[in-house]
Amino acid sequence: MWCIVVHGGAGQWSEREKFSSVEYAILKSLKAGASILESGGSALDAVVNSVMVLEDSGVLNAGLGSYPNLVGEIEMDAGVMDGKSLRAGAVGCIRNVKNPVLAAKLVLEKTDHVLLVGEWASKFAASMGVPVFDFDRSIRLPKYMDLVRKFDEGNTRYKSNLKLYKQYPHLFHETVGAVALDCEGNLASATSTGGLALKLPGRVGDSPLIGAGTYADKNIAVSSTGVGEYIILLGVGIRASIYAENGFTAKEVAEKLVQLLTLKFGENSGGLIALDKNGSIGISYNTPGMARGYFSSEMSEPTVMVP
Ligand code: GLY
Repeated sequence: MWCIVVHGGAGQWSEREKFSSVEYAILKSLKAGASILESGGSALDAVVNSVMVLEDSGVLNAGLGSYPNLVGEIEMDAGVMDGKSLRAGAVGCIRNVKNPVLAAKLVLEKTDHVLLVGEWASKFAASMGVPVFDFDRSIRLPKYMDLVRKFDEGNTRYKSNLKLYKQYPHLFHETVGAVALDCEGNLASATSTGGLALKLPGRVGDSPLIGAGTYADKNIAVSSTGVGEYIILLGVGIRASIYAENGFTAKEVAEKLVQLLTLKFGENSGGLIALDKNGSIGISYNTPGMARGYFSSEMSEPTVMVP
């Protein structure tokens, strides 16, 4: 059996005009992952392929669609983990790279490290052949101006980032991620994000932190979305691994973790997708919506749900 689950971020999902383009991106992403899995490819290759499609869509907060930080620059994070080898790769605050998830996979494959950040992560990616992309002002500036306008309208001008995120939960949705189970029973996870809109320059979220936003082992794979700081503080990925080791299914794990997020940090704090070695799927969130989909060798068509 093979299976792939993807998400396009937990959040407010108030912009209805975006729904059909997001549905299309999720469907394309599921098919990209499935094409690898059905031909006997690895879960790791499948999740990276799926997430690259979401990064390239430009309609989600990752890759080409990344939100700008407080000074209008785009700094992205991504992480991947292979459950079979327990190896992982990640990049934080990477710039000018079209597919951060590919850079993360190259950290796993080509280095002795787990996480590269900043300027040298960008240089590493470029030297490994990850396509360079100049996020020029025509893409960046309209997004930035729109975010700043919303910020201003709420009279919360630059008082505290946290206040902003709570007041405008729709500003932080749309991280993307995928988890997969391949025909050999191996699991993998990948997550990619532009991070929280209007974050401080240099901020790194949960997505590239292995054991927080991204995790996979022999029992479970998980990819989180939402307020990265909360996901880091709870160690969501590591908790998922411990719960699965104690016999909980992916569905139970996802529900327990989102209950915990809500208990500790309130509604609108996040969501996650999980997949276990038996093919049980977990999808849970405490936001108004989360773009999501799944496809497996037991299904004739992928299922896509937005928001
Ligand atoms: N969950 C994405 C982030 O906080 O960066």
